[in-house]
Amino acid sequence: MLVTGAAGFIGANFVLQALQRDPDLDITVIDALTYAGNRASLSTVEDRITFVQGDIADRELMDKLVADTDLVVHFAAESHVDNSLDDPSPFITSNIIGTFSILEAVRKHGKRLHHISTDEVFGDLELDSPEKFREDTPYDPSSPYSASKAASDHLVRAWIRSFDVQATLSNCANNYGPYHHVEKFLPRQITNILTGQRPKLYGAGVNVREWTHVDDHNAAVLLILEKGKIGETYLIGSGEERQNKDVLTELLDVMGQPADAYDFVPDRPGHDLRYAIDSTKIRNELGWAPQYSTLREGLEATVDWFRGNEWWWKPLKEQTEAKYAKLGR
Ligand code: NAD
Ligand code: DAU
Repeated sequence: MLVTGAAGFIGANFVLQALQRDPDLDITVIDALTYAGNRASLSTVEDRITFVQGDIADRELMDKLVADTDLVVHFAAESHVDNSLDDPSPFITSNIIGTFSILEAVRKHGKRLHHISTDEVFGDLELDSPEKFREDTPYDPSSPYSASKAASDHLVRAWIRSFDVQATLSNCANNYGPYHHVEKFLPRQITNILTGQRPKLYGAGVNVREWTHVDDHNAAVLLILEKGKIGETYLIGSGEERQNKDVLTELLDVMGQPADAYDFVPDRPGHDLRYAIDSTKIRNELGWAPQYSTLREGLEATVDWFRGNEWWWKPLKEQTEAKYAKLGR
């Protein structure tokens, strides 16, 4: 199996889970080790994988790596909306050109691909609407990040239809868990609290996200690899929808802090209001269900992980907050 972007948050957790389930799995990882990649996330399995540092947009390299594998699981991407608003350029190269380069390699060598995507490709929903995203919801991305992911999904679909590439796709809601970069909402607030800084809520904090533990996302990906139908898309989400301010209040409670111990900061431009997933298809067709039954349960486990793994996140904290200070958030 060739796993792209496995020094990042979800990819690293994927490799750990896949090897836990099947210790004999032969895994090669390709990762450019951007600011978001950290080889230390794979330190417990370092001697059981082959690690290649490289760019997925490098056609020659991808051709060589894909020729040597049975299956590609494609996580690598620029993943942070705020960064895409500051400088969209790497999002175009990694997310669009990178996916194109992988598609050309799997087409040439006749290999199976699973493409990891996001619910952000659908745009956003009204706060009070009963609607949820489904596999057939039209694409309507808002940010340079989500537009680049939408473009990559379209490329995968076109390669399936035009060239008979053997691929599946999945679009997941917001993940959280171990090895999550401290630029993202939950790890930023957890590590703010752990370093004596106040959490930062964008705008009025009313935006809604659906929180899925990374292990539940990756269990769904493994199920798709095992039982998913070629050419199909699967939406993945826990159903745990919350307004940001409620997530923060719950986190403050888990960490023993007063409910109002946070600051409001200026909003993200174009901030998507609400994401919500209808995951009926993967639940009914593949039998997926999240193991973390509530956000609280997942939050407690995640806070414990950050408390116990300061070595992993502390070196990233200062530079990340400096980046936010420049953006005024
Ligand atoms: P991340 O930013 O933590 O990790 C991305 C990894 O990709 C990093 O290790 C980075 O070094 C690597 N990478 C980036 N550009 C590369 C390139 N050109 N060549 C090789 N490697 C490169 O991201 P994540 O949160 O783990 O997201 C992984 C995937 O899941 C992405 O495709 C993202 O769109 C998708 N996704 C994320 C979430 C979420 O909540 N984080 C939800 C749904 C879908
Ligand atoms: O929905 C899936 C997407 O979830 C993935 O495709 C993206 O890769 C991933 O980064 C995530 O995108 P979001 O923009 O939803 O996640 P983020 O963690 O940046 O922010 C979550 C919410 O919290 C969002 O409404 C913005 C808000 N926020 C974020 C930060 C960093 C704050 O209020 N304060 C903050 O400090």
